[in-house]
Amino acid sequence: MKLERDAHPLNVNSLTPRQIVQELDRYVIGQREAKRMVAIALRNRWRRQQLPPELRDEVMPKNIIMIGPTGVGKTEIARRLAKLAEAPFIKVEASKFTEVGYVGRDVESIIRDLTEAAVGLVKARHLEEVRQKAEQLGEERLLDLLLPSQKSSMGFAADDPDGTPSPAAESLEATRSKLRLQLREGKLDHRLVEVEVKERGLPVGIISGPGGMEELENNLRDMLGGMFPGKKKKRTMKVPDALKHLTQEEAQRIIDMDEVVREAVTKVEQTGIVFLDEIDKIAGRERSAGPDVSREGVQRDLLPIVEGSTVNTKYGPVHTDHILFIAAGAFHVAKPSDLIPELQGRFPIRVELDALTKDDFVKILTEPRGSLMRQYQSLLATEGVTLEFTPDGLEEIAATALQVNDQTENIGARRLFTVMERLLEQVSFDGAEAADRHVVIDAAYVKDRLQGVVKDQDLSRYIL
Ligand SMILES: Nc1ncnc2c1ncn2[C@@H]1O[C@H](COP(=O)(O)OP(=O)(O)OP(=O)(O)O)[C@@H](O)[C@H]1O
Ligand SMILES: [Mg+2]
Repeated sequence: MKLERDAHPLNVNSLTPRQIVQELDRYVIGQREAKRMVAIALRNRWRRQQLPPELRDEVMPKNIIMIGPTGVGKTEIARRLAKLAEAPFIKVEASKFTEVGYVGRDVESIIRDLTEAAVGLVKARHLEEVRQKAEQLGEERLLDLLLPSQKSSMGFAADDPDGTPSPAAESLEATRSKLRLQLREGKLDHRLVEVEVKERGLPVGIISGPGGMEELENNLRDMLGGMFPGKKKKRTMKVPDALKHLTQEEAQRIIDMDEVVREAVTKVEQTGIVFLDEIDKIAGRERSAGPDVSREGVQRDLLPIVEGSTVNTKYGPVHTDHILFIAAGAFHVAKPSDLIPELQGRFPIRVELDALTKDDFVKILTEPRGSLMRQYQSLLATEGVTLEFTPDGLEEIAATALQVNDQTENIGARRLFTVMERLLEQVSFDGAEAADRHVVIDAAYVKDRLQGVVKDQDLSRYIL
């Protein structure tokens, strides 16, 4: 059965840059400039898709470097963008990679992982598309298991050659309908059935050792997995679990994996996004002597991928020409100009993130969906304790975080985590056992709890 589908729909998100920024605003405070840049980059993917093919191939992505101190939202922007993009996305730490020939991951694994992610994405969509059909088939198979005599002894009633069901078949069909109804009403949920399940082809971890073996093992498992498709084994499970299992099996059977892979590879090539975090950690051109892996070497390895080359993956060759790279780094010590010139040229867009202000801190505490304030409130609400933060309380928390950042080390918004944890330690400990179920966090409370620690610089170095 083949489903009607557009030829390789790319589903590039069609949000306008303004809408993308608005979406990002819901999770990341401030950083307008950076948001605008990534929004434009994302929109350009969509614009490129609208071009005639000859021109489309000419338009190269404009890669971006986000520069900013630690904890101001670089990774957060990338993470949220990924959700928005509906495109294959991967976040990697540049510092994890090493020059070819050294222990560690080689840079091509970025593209292999990205492709893997795309296959997962596309497969999930295909599975979703066939879900209804699969649910029907799964249900029928489960009924076969629950009514074993029917299928083995006389086949399906509907298959009757002359179309008029025999009385026996009719009553069987009636039983089946009754059972189906009971199944749907959940009346069989407690029953157990025996289901055949496939076992995984190869045990995990047979050859993996430290370092680069992981890749090899994955490839081996894929190869061997294909040769030995796994033994079948009977397992007893509850009816709902069996239904889920059979439905999944049916769905896997219906979808066309070749099609999934083709689509995924196109998606990676045309819309993939790689977020290269900690790029500053590989900046620096001097070849360090000794056992250190050369940073320049990693940059040189990255170059072909960023410039556009072909990487072999288990899903076939993947061209990297149009993959968008967003790099980020604090660049405390190294500067973007410390990157090798070829790589610098490949990241024409630079955007600096702002240091966060007290106002930003207050907003970060309160505004994003899963803000810290809401997290603590929800956690304590599970025990019937309500936490109320007054405006001056929030200001005081923000001011404290800022002060500690100044006095010790600036770790940006991450400071809010340590400050909040310390501030709410007593409340968290007491929980429902506290005499007072309604706790008001105002400026006085914050001062009372934190001032001692903040004043003592040595102490705050350890605690906050
Ligand atoms: N602008 C912001 N808006 C909302 N939350 C933020 C913002 N900046 C930081 N945060 C919070 O701080 C945490 C750390 O931020 P993030 O991981 O983005 O830092 P970073 O800029 O990538 O730092 P690093 O250079 O250390 O990687 C986030 O998980 C988020 O909760
Ligand atoms: Mg980060």
